[in-house]
Amino acid sequence: MKKVIIMASGNGSNFEAICKYFSNSKEIKISHLITDNPKAYVIKRAKKVGIEPKIIDYSTFKNKEEYNKALFNYLKTLDFDLIVLAGYMRILLEHIVKYYKNKIINIHPSLLPKYRGLNVIEKAFNNNEEYIGITIHYVDESVDTGKIILQKKIKIEKYWDLEKVEKEIHELEHKYYPQVIYKILKGGF
Ligand code: GRF
Repeated sequence: MKKVIIMASGNGSNFEAICKYFSNSKEIKISHLITDNPKAYVIKRAKKVGIEPKIIDYSTFKNKEEYNKALFNYLKTLDFDLIVLAGYMRILLEHIVKYYKNKIINIHPSLLPKYRGLNVIEKAFNNNEEYIGITIHYVDESVDTGKIILQKKIKIEKYWDLEKVEKEIHELEHKYYPQVIYKILKGGF
């Protein structure tokens, strides 16, 4: 059985979609949820599916180094095959990324390298982009720059508002992130 850790900071709709996809799997299991945010809605979602969330509250640490130290110490106690970032809003320090090289993936709601960083759906929409999409990539030492695993794009129809664009993006995420996780763990990438 392959084990997956999900790390998330907020809503957790991707977490839920991934858990649902693997809920009956005999090959892949979502073994842990780690969050830096004690108020994240993803905590409720985890409890609902019987996963005890691990909260490493960022606000209780002196700085990002101390937080990352605690996180790293915790990760080292776990047995797992892949770390999946799903709306995780902290930057993993270089030594963690290097230690788990090719074992951490992320999803980003833009067609990278376009629109790195935050609020990118809104930015792409306001720039009247013809296409939007998602990128699933390995995590490297920088932000949103790692090797791309999969991209999916859709055309923004003229009558779509921002809410509709966001909905379409999340649907893409929920459909493709679990499939990519499956493929990576089954050696398909
Ligand atoms: C997603 O849009 C993901 O691409 C980005 O953060 C968002 C998380 O959404 N990295 P949710 O918490 O999974 O609902």
